[in-house]
This record gives sequence, C-alpha cells and structure tokens, in this order.
Amino acid sequence: MKALVYHGPGKKSWEEKPNPVITETTDAVVKILKTTICGTDLHIMKGDVPEVTDGRILGHEGVGVIEEVGSSVSNFKKGDHVIISCITSCGKCEFCKKGMYSHCERGGWILGHMIDGTQAEYVRIPYADNSLYPIPVGSDEEALVMLSDILPTGFECGVLNGQVKPGDTIAIVGAGPVGMAALLTAQFYTPAEIIVIDQDDNRLEVAKTFGATHLINSASENALTKVMELTGGKGVDTAIEAVGVPATFELCEAIIAAGGHIANIGVHGKSVELHLETLWSRNITITTGLVDTVTTPMLLKTVQSKRIELKKLITHRFKLGQILQAYDTFEDAAKEKALKVILEN
Ligand SMILES: NC(=O)c1ccc[n+]([C@@H]2O[C@H](COP(=O)([O-])OP(=O)(O)OC[C@H]3O[C@@H](n4cnc5c(N)ncnc54)[C@H](O)[C@@H]3O)[C@@H](O)[C@H]2O)c1
Ligand SMILES: [Zn+2]
Ligand SMILES: [Zn+2]
Repeated sequence: MKALVYHGPGKKSWEEKPNPVITETTDAVVKILKTTICGTDLHIMKGDVPEVTDGRILGHEGVGVIEEVGSSVSNFKKGDHVIISCITSCGKCEFCKKGMYSHCERGGWILGHMIDGTQAEYVRIPYADNSLYPIPVGSDEEALVMLSDILPTGFECGVLNGQVKPGDTIAIVGAGPVGMAALLTAQFYTPAEIIVIDQDDNRLEVAKTFGATHLINSASENALTKVMELTGGKGVDTAIEAVGVPATFELCEAIIAAGGHIANIGVHGKSVELHLETLWSRNITITTGLVDTVTTPMLLKTVQSKRIELKKLITHRFKLGQILQAYDTFEDAAKEKALKVILEN
C-alpha cells in the first residue's frame, strides 16, 4: 500500500509500505476512506515531537471501513463504517476506568506517533472495540473526520477544562481547526463574549461566521491592549490556548481575569515562562491535557442533530495520493485560505 512516511524533521515522502496485518486478537485493520492533516502533524514535521521516529506513517484522524477484525473484536465486523479515534484505548486499565483514555496503559495517543497512522491506504487499530466508533447509516462521513480529534480536543481540553460558563467572556488564541472546534463547542454554554485571536485574517473572518463576537489580529494589533480594552481592564474568564508556541501561552497568562481558567490545548515543543510573580495571588487555574475522546459519542449526537455544522471547517479536498500537496496547502494556510483538508482514498 501507499503511505505518508516521516523521515526526520522536515522530511516526508509518499511511498510503498507493507499492508498492516492483525497482530493481536483485539486489532482491526481499517481501509481508510477519508483522512486529514492535524496541526500536530505540523509540529511533528518541525521536530517538536521527538518520539516520532524515522519510518513512521503519520496521521491520527479518519473514517474508514473495516477490512478485517481479530478474533476477540465483538463490536465490529468486516464492512462496517467507523470513525477512528485519535486515541487508542483498551477500556480495561486503571486510566481507562477513570475515563482518561489518553493515558491508557496500552494505548493513548499512539496512532501516527508510536505506531503507524492513518495517512495511508490501510491502518491497524489496536483495541478496536474501544478505539473505533460506528458511523450511523446515512451520515455525512466527511464531516465525521472532525470527530477523530479536533472536535473532542477543542471541547475537552478547551471548553470543559476551561470551565466555560453562561455569561463568561472567553478568549480563544489560535483560530486553526482546533481553535474553531473550541469556538463551536463553547457555545453549548452560551458565553457572553468570545474573542478570537490569530494572525490570519481569513481564519478570523471564518471565526466570525462561527460565532466569535470580537476578532483580534495579533500580527497587526497589540492583543493584550485590545483584550483589556474589550474587558474594561479585567481580562477574560477563560483563555484557551490553541496554537502551541510560547508567545500565545504567555498572552493567555497576561489576559486572564482573577479567578480565571487558562486551558492549554497546544502541543508545545519549547519551554514557556510561567509568570507566577503576577499570577500567584489571582486565583488562576491552569490546565493541560491530551484529549481523552470520552465525549465523542455525545459530540456525534450534536453533529447528527445539526447543532454544529462541521462541514464548514473543510476548505480543501484532495486524493490521498496528493497528500504532499495537501501538506503544502495546510502548512501555508494563510495564503491558501485553508482550514481542514480532506484526503480521499
Ligand atoms: N492537546 C491535544 O490533545 C491536542 C490535540 C490536537 C491538536 N493539538 C494542538 O492544538 C494546536 C492547534 O491545532 P490546529 O490543528 O488548529 O493547528 P493549526 O496550525 O492549523 O492552527 C494554529 C493557528 O495558530 C495561529 N498562530 C500561529 N502563531 C500565532 C501567534 N503567535 N499568535 C496568534 N495566532 C497564532 C495560526 O495562524 C493558526 O491559525 C496545535 O498545537 C496542535 O498540535 C493538541
Ligand atoms: Zn491531532
Ligand atoms: Zn486502557
């Protein structure tokens, strides 16, 4: 089969790899129907995630059809259409029992990280019963690719960790697909004001159509000054960091109101300064987290009932064989006006 293979920072190729096979009775092999590229893949390509080694097939998102299941898989059979969760979970270990699938002792975020991923014609999914979700008949499968990672990530690591409440003023720093997912799902809780901050005017305009009440382009204006102006000098109740660079986390530290929550989502490759000298007395909570994807079934229902329209996040479509071009487009998102790119097998 063909797959997108990582060969060290800055190096990747679309090349021939052996088809995956069932190695444990709990595995499934899934034929990819649609996959995509995540901001995390860009961090991997920059060398920010050093556990990813030369030869790894990237990708941790997608929908597909079951090709084969191991003898102890009971929820799925050949031909079933499934959402592949970015998090693999056994459902049985101590962390899984606590709902912390991201820290499953036998899984967690391993796809396209510690084991081969979904940017390929086929993928092996360990613990298939707990790591795949059935796709309801008649669904728009393309939109459901957003449920593999970005929607639960924005919701769990941003909105739930950030404790967004009715009437709150919140800021989302980073209007990439993950920031947009936080923007869409924050509105379950009716915050009063949603300030979205990015450097890309196109993404900011899209954020407005998704419900942002204020837009700040931090490349052309001082985001800290602007947020303080908008909030009468108080700052925001929740600051969601959805970029993964020191500058944006430090901005969250600067704009947070007393009693506020800073919810980090971004994958960071560099250390960030913690300004405890200004934060210590202000009753601030800082949360971090890898997505658990425990909210995926609930989010699927909100998508099925059209409470959130995920399709609007998709800006580009390619054949899987054009994935190198798709990476270029996603990397150059501002120029290409790109959000989520869909790759079809
Ligand atoms: N915690 C998790 O479980 C988890 C899961 C998925 C993704 N992530 C991370 O979430 C982050 C966002 O993912 P994405 O797919 O939306 O990525 P993305 O690269 O598409 O989006 C990042 C956005 O940040 C903006 N940006 C860059 N530098 C900025 C700056 N200095 N100030 C303001 N905005 C700036 C960019 O213009 C872009 O719109 C990434 O760090 C990704 O690795 C984390
Ligand atoms: Zn991801
Ligand atoms: Zn487990």
